[in-house]
Amino acid sequence: MTYPPGPQGLPLLGVMPGWLRSRLDFVLAVHDGYGDMASFSLAGRRIVQINHPDLIHEVLVKKGRCFRKADFDVSVFRLTLGDGLLSANGDYHRQQRQLVQPALHAKQIEAYARLIVEETRAMVGGWGRSVEIREAMTELALVIVARALFKTEVPAGAVARAAEVFSHAGNQMYRYLIAPPRWMAVGALRRSLNEVDALVYAMIEARRDDPGEDLMSFLMGTGMSDEEVRNEALTLLLAGHETTANALAWAWHLLGQHPAIRDALHAEVDAVLGGEPAHTAARGSLPLLDQVIKEVLRLYPPAWSLNGRVPLEPVAIGGHTLHPGDTVVIVPYVVHHDARFYPDAWAFRPGRWTPAFEKDLPRYAYFPFGGGDRYCVGASFAMMEMRLILATMLQHVRLEALPGEPPQPEPLITLRPSAPIRMKALTT
Ligand code: HEM
Repeated sequence: MTYPPGPQGLPLLGVMPGWLRSRLDFVLAVHDGYGDMASFSLAGRRIVQINHPDLIHEVLVKKGRCFRKADFDVSVFRLTLGDGLLSANGDYHRQQRQLVQPALHAKQIEAYARLIVEETRAMVGGWGRSVEIREAMTELALVIVARALFKTEVPAGAVARAAEVFSHAGNQMYRYLIAPPRWMAVGALRRSLNEVDALVYAMIEARRDDPGEDLMSFLMGTGMSDEEVRNEALTLLLAGHETTANALAWAWHLLGQHPAIRDALHAEVDAVLGGEPAHTAARGSLPLLDQVIKEVLRLYPPAWSLNGRVPLEPVAIGGHTLHPGDTVVIVPYVVHHDARFYPDAWAFRPGRWTPAFEKDLPRYAYFPFGGGDRYCVGASFAMMEMRLILATMLQHVRLEALPGEPPQPEPLITLRPSAPIRMKALTT
């Protein structure tokens, strides 16, 4: 069987020029031009982009065991995170996933609710009359996941520096599609790797006789080797802050553009929580806030494209046979803007998320946290964190948009606002 049609591209380079010009425009154009399934050549690899929820369900879930994560994505993460959950494949992934997952179960993460509210209040308390929300949300999300992992001894400066260097390195690798092995890491990346390793191994040592109540102690209690604990802890740190931070930054940008919705949110939070800290309030009692979060994750899914998947053997998808050399690309950003599932797909309309709408939506028309065996292990943590941060901020501060060019989505490893978002802050 032949491959589905797609953009032709140049000899050798394939569609590389279009890809480098704008990755978001490129994947959207593939969907517009070729529909539910398209194939093209990118830097010598055959890519199959899958755009229909039912076919995505097949790849991620029904035939999930017939695929592994692509070598390129694995190499990018392995450089800094070793064989942590993001880079692992096959039996080793399944084994590690079983060990890590319980640390992030809903019951376990309740313990972190208080620290999320505490850090959010402290942040808002230090604000002046204006704030750059992208940076503020990045710092907040990083401190929260670092404290959850390492309890009190967060060396915030060193962790933030390393996180910045790691994600910059990852972004460059994705942009130019080159992933060097770890021994080739030089300059700032090498220094950060050494610094972080020294820090993390010292923390492991400190816990050996005196285990605490943080995620790191939990990981140590599973019987993993020190290196495995290091890899999983850094994976949670990296995967667990930039995604959430971007979602929060987009949320505030959108609320700044839609003051009526923001005011309704203030009213909901005041009516439900009053002055009580958000973590003590009843769960599920902020329906508008939940709709807003869903709509933000639809319009600007932080994991805008899933990691590539490679068939382990020839596998039939959508009437075509995919082969072990091919890479399947699945892009939540494309599917989340498909007008077949979302009328007025580019508009911010939290009200669309009614129970009836959700019931009719195909399962994989909305998947900000991925699906199948590699479904985001931090999804419950992230949802709780975003709810608590937004509710606490709504209680204590009013953020208004300032005039200026709106930021554009920048498709790095995560979907970041392209420019700082400065907002007027009125603390209440
Ligand atoms: C809004 C926030 C977040 C979003 C949108 C998000 C999204 C995702 C997505 C789509 C995947 C699957 C990637 C793929 O299949 O290629 C994933 C995996 C993962 N996420 Fe998240 N994530 C978020 C927050 C978090 C947090 C807070 C943590 C940790 C505390 C975390 C840890 C991970 C890990 C370790 C994986 C790899 C899981 C595996 O392969 O078994 N994420 N995330």
